[in-house]
Amino acid sequence: MPRVWCFGLLICLSLLPGVVSWGKDGHFAVCKIAEGLLTDEAMLAVKMLLPESANGDFASLCSWADEIRHWYHWRWTSPLHYLDTPDFKCNYYYCRDCHDSYGKRDRCVSGAIYNYSTQLEAYQRPESEEKYNLTEALLFLSHFIGDIHQPLHVGFTGDEGGNTIIVHWYRRKSNLHHIWDNMIIETALKKFYNLDIKTMVQGIQSNISDDWSTVVPSWKDCDFNQTACPNLYASESIQLDEYFLSRLPIVEKRLAQGGVRLAATLNRIFLRRRSSISAA
Ligand SMILES: *[C@@H]1O[C@H](CO)[C@@H](O)[C@H](O)[C@H]1NC(C)=O
Ligand SMILES: *[C@@H]1O[C@H](CO)[C@@H](O)[C@H](O)[C@H]1NC(C)=O
Ligand SMILES: *[C@@H]1O[C@H](CO)[C@@H](O)[C@H](O)[C@H]1NC(C)=O
Ligand SMILES: *[C@@H]1O[C@H](CO)[C@@H](O)[C@H](O)[C@H]1NC(C)=O
Repeated sequence: MPRVWCFGLLICLSLLPGVVSWGKDGHFAVCKIAEGLLTDEAMLAVKMLLPESANGDFASLCSWADEIRHWYHWRWTSPLHYLDTPDFKCNYYYCRDCHDSYGKRDRCVSGAIYNYSTQLEAYQRPESEEKYNLTEALLFLSHFIGDIHQPLHVGFTGDEGGNTIIVHWYRRKSNLHHIWDNMIIETALKKFYNLDIKTMVQGIQSNISDDWSTVVPSWKDCDFNQTACPNLYASESIQLDEYFLSRLPIVEKRLAQGGVRLAATLNRIFLRRRSSISAA
């Protein structure tokens, strides 16, 4: 089945430039869901790290990484929003796939999740705070855990993660990547949620505590005592590519998983802080 879909992608290839990620709404949803699941310790750390201009509103800053990526100073971060796997393999391996287009290692979305979660673990060690800006680390980590749950951020090199696949969504011409990122959510907001992302988030949250409550604990799992588990999320995403036509329920589930896992990761990072303090 995946193989058939893989082959289908090739046939659809055409050219259209432009790389985007979950739109503002998708990232807002992931961070809003996460916010509701943070421990007190993690919530406190997040509030301390947010810039004053945010007024304590974490979710509103979850698209920051998209807003800055085209500025000269931040242009190097563009490859951190996605990863490309070899065409038609439908699998993902960190060592093979996590690099930018020049081959620089660790420059991909899973590498960035490791990088910024490791930096945040230094939160309790003031001497290392000079080295990295942990506000940036928090905003990057929160954004990239969202991106890695978007199936077309983990796509094939040949079609640039669906960016070059032109499709029609209702009456608008677009590319597959943009449809995943924005248009499914936009259409759902119009049709079901009275254009209010917060209502959609509430729908997802009630599924988390209700319909999906038996599986949600397993979403948080991270093997070998790791703080962050991007490889697992990337492998799921590459396998979900084939289901894009079933759309909305998958989008909602991926937003839910992104939020639950962002919270679980931040809770692990900032729980370690508390235990290391009480051990001292
Ligand atoms: C990790 O993050 C820092 C700070 O943004 C950056 O300077 C460094 O290049 C990053 N490393 C990788 C492999 O992306
Ligand atoms: C940390 O990064 C944020 C966002 O780029 C910036 O506004 C802030 O001034 C930086 N803080 C320090 C201490 O450099
Ligand atoms: C809630 O879960 C049901 C069953 O899995 C699904 O059909 C529905 O789309 C979900 N709604 C939201 C808002 O996630
Ligand atoms: C995880 O950490 C616990 C406590 O530090 C330790 O006992 C256990 O062996 C670790 N498990 C793995 C797989 O590293």
